[in-house]
Amino acid sequence: MDRDVRVLLSEEELNDIVVRLGKQISKDYEGKDLIVVGILKGASVFMSDLIRKIDKHIEIDYMVVSSYGNSTESSGVVKILKDLSVPIEGKHLLIVEDIVDSGLTLSYLTKNLKTRNPESVRICSLLSKPSRRKVDVEIDYLGIDIEDYFVVGYGIDFAEKYRNLPYLGVYTGE
Ligand code: IMP
Ligand code: MG
Repeated sequence: MDRDVRVLLSEEELNDIVVRLGKQISKDYEGKDLIVVGILKGASVFMSDLIRKIDKHIEIDYMVVSSYGNSTESSGVVKILKDLSVPIEGKHLLIVEDIVDSGLTLSYLTKNLKTRNPESVRICSLLSKPSRRKVDVEIDYLGIDIEDYFVVGYGIDFAEKYRNLPYLGVYTGE
């Protein structure tokens, strides 16, 4: 199954990242009402690991978004396929994403969510590809910057495959 994948971050390295982010988030949101919002499907594995490293009461929710256009380039037109199921007015929101690439998805999403009057909106992303950025996105909690690789595993797919690899890899196939 992983013939076409080269390991970029091992399970241990991913765990170190998640522990570090979880500690920071627990500290920063002490005494605050926090809703952690995972963006499906890519962030599903990262999200489920991360919330177990957050040491305080939280609520969780998920959104499904899709960007129009072909599969490797984000078009900036984002469609919300599944919206939040809880009201967020007056709450602190932490969006959990797998990768910030062009930044178009999160730029649209944060603008949209801010119109619903949450107390704050912050972003936690496992990965960022700064060289690919088209719009500025402030990532408050970042796992790690990576080169312009196409990555798979740990929830992240290529044509819906590889999400169940336990590590993060670079896709080297055709
Ligand atoms: P953005 O709007 O260009 O920032 O799109 C980010 C989204 O594109 C991520 O949430 C992923 O779903 C997808 N994406 C970006 N880079 C990769 C990659 O290397 N592998 C798989 N999906 C990717
Ligand atoms: Mg995604």
